[in-house]
Amino acid sequence: MRQIHVLNGPNLNLLGRREPGIYGAATLADVEAEMRALGEKLGVAITCRQSNHEGELVTWIQEAGLSGADVILNAGAYTHTSVALRDAIKGSGARVIEVHISNVHAREEFRHHSYISPVVAGIIVGFGIAGYRLAVQALLEMKPNS
Ligand code: DQA
Repeated sequence: MRQIHVLNGPNLNLLGRREPGIYGAATLADVEAEMRALGEKLGVAITCRQSNHEGELVTWIQEAGLSGADVILNAGAYTHTSVALRDAIKGSGARVIEVHISNVHAREEFRHHSYISPVVAGIIVGFGIAGYRLAVQALLEMKPNS
């Protein structure tokens, strides 16, 4: 069975109450419930994790990459700062879809640069939480890892 790890980074635990005008009203629990339901419908094993800690995300990306699981990653602010996340993706060979709920390119300049974009398979930006579902769809249209 195909494995997809849905990894959310810092402050995404606050979805639903954090700047709802930008990120919407859905909570992280809502997103994860939708992912799990989609996984059941499509016959894909979905693992959902969130952390505010960079090193934990590094470990989870490595785990996914080394086990052949695909990754849907919203790295939050670490997108714009983290060489370590980029190295984890490159080093473990993880196939990653980068997701952003908001259109980062329509926001502050510092959100326009992503350290991880050059090492991911694709990027889904600005579709709200639908981006996570679109990322599952995109991965299923790609060849399985093994
Ligand atoms: C975000 C965009 C980032 O710039 C921000 O730091 C986040 C969320 C998004 O999903 O739109 O935490 O990744």
